[in-house]
Amino acid sequence: MVQTVASTRRNWKLTAVALALASCVLLAADLRMKHEHMQVRLLTVLPDQVPADPSLVRFAVAQARPLYVQHCARCHGDALEGNSHLGAPGLADDTWLYGTGGVHDIERTLLYGIRTGRAKAHSLTDMPAFGLTGRLSDGEIRSVVQYVLQLSGNPYDPPAANEGRAVYYGKADCGDCHGRDARGDSSYGAPDLTRNVWNSGGDAGSLYKAIYSGQHHFMPAWLGTLTLEEIRALAVYVYSVSHSPSSQRPYGAGAQ
Ligand code: HEC
Ligand code: HEC
Repeated sequence: MVQTVASTRRNWKLTAVALALASCVLLAADLRMKHEHMQVRLLTVLPDQVPADPSLVRFAVAQARPLYVQHCARCHGDALEGNSHLGAPGLADDTWLYGTGGVHDIERTLLYGIRTGRAKAHSLTDMPAFGLTGRLSDGEIRSVVQYVLQLSGNPYDPPAANEGRAVYYGKADCGDCHGRDARGDSSYGAPDLTRNVWNSGGDAGSLYKAIYSGQHHFMPAWLGTLTLEEIRALAVYVYSVSHSPSSQRPYGAGAQ
């Protein structure tokens, strides 16, 4: 009799353990299904519609952050602040070299890269080496640097900037790529020179170097290295950081 009570208790215990295990398995299966469901949604929703769905954004950001640390932080910095020694732009602000910063635009840059030689990569033009090729003299470059400082709202030397302005619109025709209003052209990655947001530094020395030696920065393509879902998640992550309220800032001085 005593033995029967004991074995009934044991049976109950076993049943309870079995039930607990079963619910764990069910819960895990449920979580897995939810995860897979989110993965499918992330890839099937149009890229620019993802930001309208906060749960999808949270899902993408959680997937993307470890990938960002592993693959992107070495060039763009842990906090997406950029690295002027490498010419890697900050990704947390609302200034874009290519496109207008929508998920679709960011994703395209990630898929094919910049100047990678792939057919769909961004690679329409480079920053010419005005000094190395002898197109501009040392003095002309120094004065155009002063004009760029004026354009971006920094302290500048007015007589030199005036000369630089003539070089910008005349001999060098900088506006052909950076625009008559110097606000850049995001269809081929010519930076906006009025915003005081720089990829390679905005002090006189860095500007001189960019104009003297030119620029030909490279950004790897991620198609083939990362999955489409990972690339989409990263694009949503960059979008969400750069579109958080603290990232928005008004246009710079924009002097002409
Ligand atoms: C080897 C360094 C390097 C790595 C690694 C790298 N990038 Fe870049 N990235 C660059 C450079 C340099 C540019 C700017 C190219 C130019 O000036 O045209 C750039 C440009 C970009 C742009 C375009 C920004 C704009 O203003 O339009 C985005 C978006 C971007 N990177 C995201 C990423 C992400 C996300 C990763 C990781 C998956 C990554 N990058 C990894 C170097 C890198
Ligand atoms: C053929 C098109 C073209 C012309 C002409 C051109 N640029 Fe550029 N410029 C670019 C591109 C593209 C970049 C970005 C290149 C890169 O990151 O690899 C750039 C980069 C720069 C940068 C660096 C910006 C940064 O964020 O670090 C400065 C400064 C600049 N250009 C100024 C000028 C000035 C001044 C002139 C005229 C003397 C000029 N550019 C003429 C296309 C051009």
